[in-house]
Amino acid sequence: MNKLFIFDTTLRDGEQVPGCQLNTIEKIEVARALEALGVDVIEAGFPVSSPGDFDAVVEIARAVKDPVICALTRAVEKDIEVAAEALKAARRGRIHTGIGTSPYHIFNKLKSNPDEILERAVKAVKYAKRFVEDVEFYAEDAGRSENEYLAKVIEAVIAAGATVVNIPDTTGYCLPQEYGEKILYLVNNVKNIDQAVISTHCHNDLGMATANSLAGVMNGARQVEVTINGIGERAGNTSLEEVVMAVKTRKNFPVSTTVNSKLILETSRLVSSLMNMPVQPNKAIVGRNAFAHSSGIHQDGVLKDRENYEIIDPADVGVDESAIVLTARSGRAALKHHLDRLGYRYENGSLDEVYTRFLTMADKKKQVTDVDLLLLIGRDSASGARLSLKLLQVLAGMSTVPMATVHLMMDGEEKAETAEGNGPFDAAFKAVTRLIDEPFEVDEFLIQAITRGSDDVGKVHVRVKGRGRIFYGFSADTDIVTASVRALVDALNKMISSNGR
Ligand code: KIV
Ligand code: ZN
Repeated sequence: MNKLFIFDTTLRDGEQVPGCQLNTIEKIEVARALEALGVDVIEAGFPVSSPGDFDAVVEIARAVKDPVICALTRAVEKDIEVAAEALKAARRGRIHTGIGTSPYHIFNKLKSNPDEILERAVKAVKYAKRFVEDVEFYAEDAGRSENEYLAKVIEAVIAAGATVVNIPDTTGYCLPQEYGEKILYLVNNVKNIDQAVISTHCHNDLGMATANSLAGVMNGARQVEVTINGIGERAGNTSLEEVVMAVKTRKNFPVSTTVNSKLILETSRLVSSLMNMPVQPNKAIVGRNAFAHSSGIHQDGVLKDRENYEIIDPADVGVDESAIVLTARSGRAALKHHLDRLGYRYENGSLDEVYTRFLTMADKKKQVTDVDLLLLIGRDSASGARLSLKLLQVLAGMSTVPMATVHLMMDGEEKAETAEGNGPFDAAFKAVTRLIDEPFEVDEFLIQAITRGSDDVGKVHVRVKGRGRIFYGFSADTDIVTASVRALVDALNKMISSNGR
C-alpha cells in the first residue's frame, strides 16, 4: 500500500469557482493534460447540476482512457442515476456520493438527525453500487464532525460497499495534527477500514490544506484530492503540485505517486490560462518566483551550487532553469552570470567597472533586463560580430508561397540564400540555416510587444542549441520578421565565435 492515489478535482471543485467555468472542449483539454500528467482519478463534474456538466462528464469519459473517471452526486437517487448515465462511456467509472456528518450539516443544513443521516448514507452507497463497482463516499464537513459518529458512518458505508472513504475538511477548519489524528482515529476504530482506501479532501481557508492532506497521508490515507494550482471554493483546495513535490522531495513519506512531475508547470499554465486564474508569483512550485533568486547572497550561493538555496531541481517540475533576477540587490556574481550568458566576458577590474554602472541603473529600475544590460555595456548585440544581417526580403500573404532571401556578412564576405517555408519566419530561418554550415537547433522563439498599436516595436528572444551549448540572441524592430532574423543571427554569431564544448 505504498502508492498514493492522486484524485484530481480541478474540473469539479476547481471549476466551481466564479469566473473559472470552462466549456466542454476546454474541459477535455484539461482532462487530457491530467491524463498525461499521470493522475489516477479525474473528478469530471457533478452531472445532475446542469446539462453542460452532464455532457462534459460524458465527453471526458470518451476522451480519456487511463484514469478512473469520477462523477459527484448528493445522497439522492436521481443524482446517482444521472451520474451513472454520464459515466456509461468510462472504461473505469466511479460514483462519488455523500452527505454532511457534522452537527452543523446534520441539524442546520439538512434539518435531520444522526440516525437518519447514517441511514441515508448507507442507502446512497447501496444504490450507487447497482450501477458501478467503484463507489466513493464523502462525509461532508468531516473536519468538524465528531470522530465517534464519523467512525460509525464510515464503518456502515464500507459495509454497504464503499471502496473509497473521503474525509473532507470542507471548511478548512482543521489543524494538521488534528486532521492527522482524525484519520488515525478511523484507522484504529473502524473495524472494516482495511476494505477501503481513505481519502483526504482539504480546503485552504487557514492555509493548511497541503499540511492537512500530508498529515492524513502520514496517518494512513492513501488517496489525496487535489486541484492544479490549488484552485477551488473560497481559498481553494489542496494543490496537486505541492503534495506531489513534498512526497517526492522529502523521503519521510511512506508513499510515492506516479505523477510525471516534469509536466507540472505546463499543466499549471494551461489551467491558469483556460480558467483566467493567474497564479500568484510566490506560489510554491509553480509561481513565477518559485525558482527566482534576487538577493546577492542567494544568487552567489545558487551560482556556486544550486542546492545551496533550492530544494527542488527546477527541471523536475518542467522549469528550464533557476532565474537569477537582476535588481539593485544583486551582486557581481549574478551580473557576471548574465553577461556570460549573453556572450560577453568581464572579469575583475572590468567587471567592477560595469557593476558600478549596473547599480546606478538598477536603482532606477525594478529589474534589469537583457536589453538593459546590452545598453549598459555600450553595445548592441551585433557590434564586432563575425556574422551580421545585410539584407532580408520576404514574400508572404494569402495565396502566396512564403519565401525569404537572406544576405549575411560572414567574416567580411557577403553570402545569400533563398528558401520557402510555411510562413515568413520559417522561410527566413530556413535561408539562414542553409548559410550556416554546422548543425544547430532553435529551441525557443519568443516575440513580445514593447509598446501598443500597429506601429509597435517587437522584441525577439531566440535560444539556439549548438556545439553542445545554449546561445541566446536578442533584437528589437518595428518589423518583427527582421527582428527575429537579427535575433537568430545574434545567437548564431555567439555560437560560431565560441570555442565549442
Ligand atoms: O469540500 C467538500 O466537502 C466537497 C465534497 C463534495 C467532496 O467538495
Ligand atoms: Zn471540496
